[in-house]
Amino acid sequence: MAGSTDPAGSGAPPAVSPPLWLLAELTYRCPLHCVFCYNPTNYESAGGELTTAQWVDVMRQARALGAAQMGFSGGEPLLRDDLEELVQEARRLGYYTNLLTSGVGLTAERARRLKDAGLDHVQLSFQDSTREMNDFLSHTRTFELKKKVARIIKDNDWPMVMNCVLHRHNLPHVGAIIDMALELGAEYLELANTQYYGWAWRNRDHLMPTREQLREAEAVVQRYREQIGNRCRLLFVVPDYFEERPKACMNGWGSVFLSIAPDGLAMPCHNARNLPGLQLPDVREHSIADIWQRSNAFNAYRGEDWMQEPCRSCDERHKDFGGCRCQAFMVTGDAAATDPVCSKSPMHERIVQMTRDAATKRRQINIAFRSDPVAPLQDGARVP
Ligand code: SF4
Ligand code: FES
Repeated sequence: MAGSTDPAGSGAPPAVSPPLWLLAELTYRCPLHCVFCYNPTNYESAGGELTTAQWVDVMRQARALGAAQMGFSGGEPLLRDDLEELVQEARRLGYYTNLLTSGVGLTAERARRLKDAGLDHVQLSFQDSTREMNDFLSHTRTFELKKKVARIIKDNDWPMVMNCVLHRHNLPHVGAIIDMALELGAEYLELANTQYYGWAWRNRDHLMPTREQLREAEAVVQRYREQIGNRCRLLFVVPDYFEERPKACMNGWGSVFLSIAPDGLAMPCHNARNLPGLQLPDVREHSIADIWQRSNAFNAYRGEDWMQEPCRSCDERHKDFGGCRCQAFMVTGDAAATDPVCSKSPMHERIVQMTRDAATKRRQINIAFRSDPVAPLQDGARVP
């Protein structure tokens, strides 16, 4: 059995608020090879992908539980040729639907079909404002194609969120990235400073910016905000390695976010696959209600009982929930430790040291590109 669920024992339903977000990671396959991809570095060992019918069942159950927003992501979700069918079903169930894509595969014809299926929203990723850097970081020639896709998104009257992951290579281009978003008509631009998970964790010394780069980029963003007003909303996602307090990751474990991996493992966050001892439950073996309310994995860091000092007695614990469990594990080896980004953590110095040593350490290692996945497919999974 892939996961275990523990009935509460008392017979009374547990007091757990419903998930709001359902993230369907349809596939780990992707035509790009981004150096900061958050997919697990061992994604090739994941099992076969869920079938169309299994995804529909997940969506139906999660909606019945209360989930209202759905993201289709990956990998590249457009690699699933049943995407239109899944979007249509999601809309029929009453979800607000969002496609998170690199743009590869979003032809005018495919966009029309997704529009007809009822897709509400598209988030398109760029790696940079220059072709050279975009194509280097993704290890593909995709820059011009992404610009074409941005026009297709606008032609279909979708609100467009452009997303660009920031790091030391493109932080100096932040003004040009904003200009590009304005030129392409994006309603929102998410400037997401790299979070160090998956491939980004592996490449963190190559991606780590300096404090000065961050300060300058933030000042540029602020200047643009004042100039452009509501024309395009600029979101600057803070780089928590340079902060004194951690982010409220997932808005608290098992609080609003339900992620389903391509192979059907249900996860309280999309990086939970590598946390030790979690026994992630499989949607093919357990109901979504059982997984959300009663599984060990979703209850492991829910609420506050699991917290250690200094979080346990900290008056900020309702604000950040002790930070990120994955970050705590990767840096301290203990997933229940205080997120070391927090200056109250006894391990905070490790984070400071990582930011300080990156320039020296990156001379000793090569940057790693995400390699092509070769995921085995399940019988009946309708993928190209
Ligand atoms: Fe947040 Fe824990 Fe730091 Fe307090 S000690 S600010 S709860 S991470
Ligand atoms: Fe997993 Fe933060 S990314 S809890």
